[in-house]
Amino acid sequence: MSVFLGWLSALAMAVVSTHVLLKVCFPYFWRDLLFLIKVIRCGARLELSKLTSNVHTVLEKFVLQAQRVPDKPFVIFEGIVHTYRDIEQRSNRLAHVFLESVNLRKGDCVALLMSNEPDFLCVWFGLAKVGCSVAFLNTNIKSKSLLHCFNCCGAKTLIVGSELVECLDGILTSLLEDNIQVWAMESHSEHTQVHSLLDKVAAASEQPVPAVLHATTSLKSPTLYIFTSGTTGLPKAAVITHLQSLKAAAGFWAFGMTEDDVVYIPLPLYHSAASLIGIGGTIELGATCVLKKKFSASQFWNDCRKHNVTAFQYIGELCRYLCNQPKREVDKVHKVRMGVGNGLRQDVWREFQSRFGNVKMCEVYGSTEGNLCFMNHIGKIGTVGRSNFLYRLLFKYDLVKYDMEKDEPVKDQYGFCQRVGRGETGLLLSKVSATSPFFGYAGSKQLTEKKLMRNVFMKGDAYFNTGDLMAEDQEGFICFKDRVGDTFRWKGENVATTELTEALGLVDFMQEVNVYGVEIPGLEGRAGMAAVIIRPGLMFDGKKLFEHVVTDLPAYAHPRFIRIQGMMEMTSTFKQQKFQLVQSGFNPSTISDPLYVLDYQQKNYIPLTDTVYHSILAGEYKL
Ligand SMILES: *[C@@H]1O[C@H](CO)[C@@H](O)[C@H](O)[C@H]1NC(C)=O
Repeated sequence: MSVFLGWLSALAMAVVSTHVLLKVCFPYFWRDLLFLIKVIRCGARLELSKLTSNVHTVLEKFVLQAQRVPDKPFVIFEGIVHTYRDIEQRSNRLAHVFLESVNLRKGDCVALLMSNEPDFLCVWFGLAKVGCSVAFLNTNIKSKSLLHCFNCCGAKTLIVGSELVECLDGILTSLLEDNIQVWAMESHSEHTQVHSLLDKVAAASEQPVPAVLHATTSLKSPTLYIFTSGTTGLPKAAVITHLQSLKAAAGFWAFGMTEDDVVYIPLPLYHSAASLIGIGGTIELGATCVLKKKFSASQFWNDCRKHNVTAFQYIGELCRYLCNQPKREVDKVHKVRMGVGNGLRQDVWREFQSRFGNVKMCEVYGSTEGNLCFMNHIGKIGTVGRSNFLYRLLFKYDLVKYDMEKDEPVKDQYGFCQRVGRGETGLLLSKVSATSPFFGYAGSKQLTEKKLMRNVFMKGDAYFNTGDLMAEDQEGFICFKDRVGDTFRWKGENVATTELTEALGLVDFMQEVNVYGVEIPGLEGRAGMAAVIIRPGLMFDGKKLFEHVVTDLPAYAHPRFIRIQGMMEMTSTFKQQKFQLVQSGFNPSTISDPLYVLDYQQKNYIPLTDTVYHSILAGEYKL
């Protein structure tokens, strides 16, 4: 007996001391382990479905949930509750219409131009039910880019939301010339060449279409095309396979959300965050989401209180807008326990938590098309993700030395890249392999190849170049530092410098244009700035430029600052000059070139004076 007791107490001692040791030396051990088990479980499930060719897509998950919890609210939109059954039945009706009236066939690609509303989901699922892939179009997009999007993914049909039919005015003729059929979510259409859908939906059956239409045996078949900003000017269509959509849909679950959660989705559905992680994640859990047409800082907390929201999706600027709202006594009265998103700055993060209470912020790092993702499941402020030796076994990524001035990775004498040390900043590369495939961009091998780096550490290897500079600290936390190359982020969107350069180059008085992003203290991302040379004999015309910019470019891509140069400074490379321009920023007291700033009120580019400069820094100037 006493021997037994002795054993028991020794065992207890061992357990306690291991626990203490772990807590002191590896404070994140248990949380890391639990998280990794989830990642591995999810991965194993995917591997298994690969072996058995028994692929359960996100759509099939939705159909199952609609059978399991038909009466549960799935989407709440503008106060109206749509249950799982509602969305299931309406997407069935649409599927019948797609087969019978629109004449779509399995394998077709269909473009969808719609703002956030439940019908976005019904059309998406309806198309998926008849085996079509869907290309989500950015609703900010302007005519020229829009036409290009059809070419990328080979879509011959466009479905447009009733509110966006007007956007077609300028391009309908071009679409019809290209043999693209246009269908609107209207009961009857004003345009003779635009077909109406809703009248047909009303008459269609709500029974499911044959499941064989959407059955798939391969995780690697494309299901969606999501447009991301391209470095060659026009948007690129990232190919989203079932594999990626299933991985993204597991995100909420991995962060510990359950079917009792109510998720607030204020981000646009045409981006992967809201569609793949948000809607996919809600379906995976069988939870409820509150969908917003547009984010509104003044409505946010009232909405959360009204619908008992427990989690929300964000981008960094959204949290800042919330912090900028006038303080209220009820600021901490809500049930929100976590946020999932990216781009949250440390200062905003701290302020957000001290103001609105203990909301765990889970940063997710990963691009739509990328093959790597980091998740900050610990919630440590200022970090986008967490790694450890096990994670490194699962995901082969590396940080390599980068020369900011030359804008290229540093190579050793054999032409290979060099890894950075712990804590040092480097370019994040992710190895392309069978377990981390890169599916590239639709319709362009060239663009796909451009995103890859070959012969990085040895002859024949291939890495996905994220274009992001990151650092990993001693504890394995990963921080985002900067973005390199030809894109920068502004208001949650990627802006391609070349797209802007091209657009500005079309203005008659522009001789040379060089676009880059400048940091504004206190704001996320970078604001677009163009250094330009004016054609001899012509004058800079702010009003004309403004007109051109607002008609040709989406709002987030409007260049905020213009710098007029006498001549482009001669440096050894074009890239080096950009580096110096970025460094010198937009301060009129240190730059002798004339500077202009975008003014939406006056519909003009006005001289950037010291007064304006200081009101920008104080956050009083609307950019
Ligand atoms: C929110 O929760 C409260 C208390 O738990 C409950 O009384 C209320 O009905 C809930 N509201 C909604 C919209 O579910």
